[in-house]
Amino acid sequence: MQNPKRYLITAALPYANGLKHVGHLAGAYIPADIYARYLRAQERDVVFVCGSDEHGTAIPIQARKEGTTPQAIIDKYHAAMQQDFADLDIQFDIYHRTSAPLHHETASAFFTQLEKAGDLETKETEQFYDPEAKSFLADRYIKGTCPACQSDRAFGDQCESCGRSLSPEELIRPVSTLSGATPILKKTTHWYLPLGKHEDFLRKWILENHGADWRPAVVGQCKGWIEGGLQSRAVTRDLDWGVKVPLPQANGKVLYVWFDAPIGYISATKQWALDHGKDWGPYWKDAETKLVHFIGKDNIVFHCIIFPVMLKLGGYILPDNVPSNEFLNLEGDKMSTSRNWKLDMREYINDFVKKENGGGQAVDMLRYYLTQIAPETKDSEFTWKGFQDAVNSELVAVLGNFVNRTWVLMHKLCKGKVPPYHTGVADEYDQRLIEQIQTSTQIVTQHLEQYQFRDALFAVVDLARHGNQYMQRKEPWILAKRLEQEPEAQKAIDNCLHLCLQLCANLAILGNPFLPNTSKTLCHMMKVVDRMLEWKHAGRIDLLKVGYSLREPQLLFRKIEDTEIDIQLEKLKSNIMPPDSPAPTPSEQPLGKPPIQFDDFAKVELKVGTIVAAEKVEKADKLLKLSVDLGSETRTIVSGIALHYAPEDIIGKQVTVVTNLAPRKMRGIESNGMILMAEDPVGKLHFVNPDTPIQPGSGIS
Ligand code: MF3
Ligand code: ZN
Repeated sequence: MQNPKRYLITAALPYANGLKHVGHLAGAYIPADIYARYLRAQERDVVFVCGSDEHGTAIPIQARKEGTTPQAIIDKYHAAMQQDFADLDIQFDIYHRTSAPLHHETASAFFTQLEKAGDLETKETEQFYDPEAKSFLADRYIKGTCPACQSDRAFGDQCESCGRSLSPEELIRPVSTLSGATPILKKTTHWYLPLGKHEDFLRKWILENHGADWRPAVVGQCKGWIEGGLQSRAVTRDLDWGVKVPLPQANGKVLYVWFDAPIGYISATKQWALDHGKDWGPYWKDAETKLVHFIGKDNIVFHCIIFPVMLKLGGYILPDNVPSNEFLNLEGDKMSTSRNWKLDMREYINDFVKKENGGGQAVDMLRYYLTQIAPETKDSEFTWKGFQDAVNSELVAVLGNFVNRTWVLMHKLCKGKVPPYHTGVADEYDQRLIEQIQTSTQIVTQHLEQYQFRDALFAVVDLARHGNQYMQRKEPWILAKRLEQEPEAQKAIDNCLHLCLQLCANLAILGNPFLPNTSKTLCHMMKVVDRMLEWKHAGRIDLLKVGYSLREPQLLFRKIEDTEIDIQLEKLKSNIMPPDSPAPTPSEQPLGKPPIQFDDFAKVELKVGTIVAAEKVEKADKLLKLSVDLGSETRTIVSGIALHYAPEDIIGKQVTVVTNLAPRKMRGIESNGMILMAEDPVGKLHFVNPDTPIQPGSGIS
């Protein structure tokens, strides 16, 4: 869309069921923030909305896991996520939440409108029901064996092991994770969005209109969905957590979370408008609004197929683009919350931003690296070594170095003032640098317009690289030595530093969407106000006035030391879920591993132990350090049970210990053995022990 009147930018509403990691940040929030900052710098009318997704079964599941209520969970994680985004300078115009009454009203009215217009269908189906818990079972609450890979880590919606998406009827030997009971089928009525009816619309809108301008991976996925045949999708659920279905006959039913959550973008806009005395209507209803959804690839179908059908039916505008990202891996492995293989935003904030010599600089370092490795076209990878290299060899050695040299030389050779530019002595290098500033401006702008944030950022740093090369050629420090014999040389020095300073001013503008803190520091050093950062000034070489005196240089970026990344790597490895704590998903039922020979079993040495001491492991929520008496010796064992037992409650308990497991370091503590635990249907862990106290060290076979 050319020259839209206004922009509405959305970033996927994160589930309020846990802290978010840098994969989420790189996938949606940083690119959206860069884009919104770029548009603001262009003085466009832009609203950037986000908020917490507080419905769906993910919330009650987390509440059970933490032994608390869904409300407590969303309050806790909503506040935590909002803080984390703020700490990393993700500048939403509003961070809303789907538990807000305004959202409930908006989502409920949306449903009513579609229902009244006859755009929904109802169907009676048989759904799994837990006769013991007296409750219909959400897909996530049913576990069983995967029909595809035979893993017993399959849920009613997806197999954790092979990733295949499932429906509960496909599970072999399903069990309810609420009670462990075998679910039965029971009749229930639900409302459906008949996507099949909108196939022509989708085909035309996505494949014909946007086949060329959307990312190929997004178009490809949509094509797959459309060609696979679009089924009607249930938009209601039997659940007691969510937006109530606004119909008398729908007692005990709520809107499906994926029906209400995207409407959250609309209610967030409404709240923003209320807060600022504006009208929300044009942002969602005027064809001259450009709507852009920033998401990760697992959200494509919802943002490109289902929500657009809802928007069309409701009389709203459609997204102009959905720049979805692929996934970010971590140190050679998929990021995973259940295995605790991840880097939480919070973790980085605590270890870098909140540290002495951290702050805005540390925020920009992370924003830089995550943009540089953004998984725009394929999965990419976060490594601490990569982070260190990006900071040290680009931010420090190229960008920081160029700015610092310019400032130091300007103070030394030009009395701390912007020197004049003498056209008479200008040479081809000067001319080429001026052209480079203009070309870079165009390149950065073009890439930003096309959501190519990696390339845009590369072009910014490349401009600094050109600056360094230019300075290296001009060598003003050599010219300075000749000044006594050759006073004319001052003119060449002036030209060099004049242009280098103008280049720095351009770096402040072009880098601002990516590295806002760096640009702020540069403005301070240049003694200019933020207005200089407006995009229309980019490409100009008269941004700093001749004779204007500038401040002393400040360090823009500090080096990342080897020890810092070693600490992070160690922490990551020691935090990964130890083998004796099962994944924190609801109940693992013993649905059968393949048979083994007795010899295999006999390799395992099992003994009865008595816990004689227990303490929390610092900075590891899930770990306890135990001293276990095994008769002839007392061993240190680190166990992932801290969420299930308080240290003081387990002294004297007898446990089953695998004593010949190879030692393993966790959080810097060597663990010598493993404690066996039994997991109940709600995921709580219990010790496995003899029915009567016996001598520690007794063998088990
Ligand atoms: N909560 C979802 C997730 O984390 C994203 C919701 S996006 C919205 O995958 F559009 F529904 F809001
Ligand atoms: Zn599977």
